[in-house]
Amino acid sequence: MAKTPFAFTCYSCGASHKKWGGKCDACGEWNTIIEEAPLSKGPAGKSLGAHKGRVIPLSTLASREEPPPRTCSGMVEFDRVLGGGLVPASAILVGGDPGIGKSTLLLQATARFARAGLKTMYISGEEASAQVRMRAHRLDLADAPVSLATETNLRDILTTLDAERPDLVVIDSIQTMWADNVESAPGSVSQVRAAAHELVTFAKARGSAVVIVGHVTKEGQIAGPRVVEHMVDTVLYFEGERGHQFRILRAVKNRFGPAGEIGVFEMTGEGLAEVANPSALFLSERGQAAPGSAVFAGIEGTRPVLTEVQALVAPSSLASPRRTVVGLDAGRVSTILAVLESRCGIPFAGLDVFLNVAGGMKVQEPAVDLAVAAALLSAREDVALPADLVIFGEISLSGALRPVGQAENRLKEAQKLGFSQAIAPERTKAGGDEGMRMRRLPDLVTFVGDMFGAG
Ligand code: TYD
Ligand code: MG
Repeated sequence: MAKTPFAFTCYSCGASHKKWGGKCDACGEWNTIIEEAPLSKGPAGKSLGAHKGRVIPLSTLASREEPPPRTCSGMVEFDRVLGGGLVPASAILVGGDPGIGKSTLLLQATARFARAGLKTMYISGEEASAQVRMRAHRLDLADAPVSLATETNLRDILTTLDAERPDLVVIDSIQTMWADNVESAPGSVSQVRAAAHELVTFAKARGSAVVIVGHVTKEGQIAGPRVVEHMVDTVLYFEGERGHQFRILRAVKNRFGPAGEIGVFEMTGEGLAEVANPSALFLSERGQAAPGSAVFAGIEGTRPVLTEVQALVAPSSLASPRRTVVGLDAGRVSTILAVLESRCGIPFAGLDVFLNVAGGMKVQEPAVDLAVAAALLSAREDVALPADLVIFGEISLSGALRPVGQAENRLKEAQKLGFSQAIAPERTKAGGDEGMRMRRLPDLVTFVGDMFGAG
């Protein structure tokens, strides 16, 4: 029988290769070649042109759907990120760096779901049951009725799941699972994809919720979760800086709720504690008003979160000065620096620039632009911004300030935390009526004149 000759495909252009390589010869892209399992040799091996399938039952748009029944764990931050609780027959991927706390979070959540009455299973391919049990003891979860196993053989796991029919099963992690019908090593793309496919199929067929844990590699280029992302209903990323105790669970995709929603946790000696008021937490380390600090009124998912943008600007001894950015998009920061230079005549050449979001938070909204510019200018001019000032707004390449969504929510949160003045783009609708002093500015030049012109 003719064997499918090529097992490596470039995911950028689709070209087939005989062996893996760092660069695709066909399109010239780097690191795009992935291992592909050969096509199945079943009856479907031939063309679908003769299509002898079954006729699919069709329905109309008018057919009513009940919203899915949900179970809440009682961990409010976790339930919120799921979109308001766990949906049966859903497949959820939880990705994150090794050691960030995925196993801890899921053990805690599983125990809470078990206490809420769900039949739960926790299958670890990485840790011995004794280890998981020890952790459960330390987290004071030993009494929760969670069934535990250490196993990596997917066939055995699926057989067990079929017999036990749990409401929720956690697979920790997908990289350790081994499907014996795929010939590559655990952790390879074909294994990960095959295992995820089997688990998602199980979830849909049996009505169980399946949580799949996936490790992200250092480059963020995942030998695993990225290929799994399109198969599952919900993709959650667990992020945080290793040195910080704050952890953020972020929904990057959710078929059963809003994407972008975040849950905030703090890693303590007794596991992950929920943080009900993230703004207060992220601003808690802020001392007196200091140069280089600007408070950004942001929105994460459906909720407003205030964060502090910190900048340090110092003379550089390097030919090409340093641009070190943590928690913000480095490309956007370069753009803001370029706009400051060419539209406002404020050069940063010859200066090292360090930017950071306090508390290990990652901010992705363009609305943070103006706060970044403010922090940079404040650091460069060595002038502190008022301590009770919040800032938000997007900067366009022309230097104009663009209004951003949910201004009212941003301002309300700021006011709740004791801020009394705000700077926002000109056409911002909300504000002014809550005793908050608003300055609405048309462009970055006006902003610079307004803040630092007199000094
Ligand atoms: P873990 O959940 O094993 O991470 P992952 O599954 O993402 O690889 O968590 C690892 C870290 O969390 C470990 O360095 C110790 C720390 N930790 C605490 O600080 N407190 C705790 O109560 C627990 C259980 C872990
Ligand atoms: Mg783990």
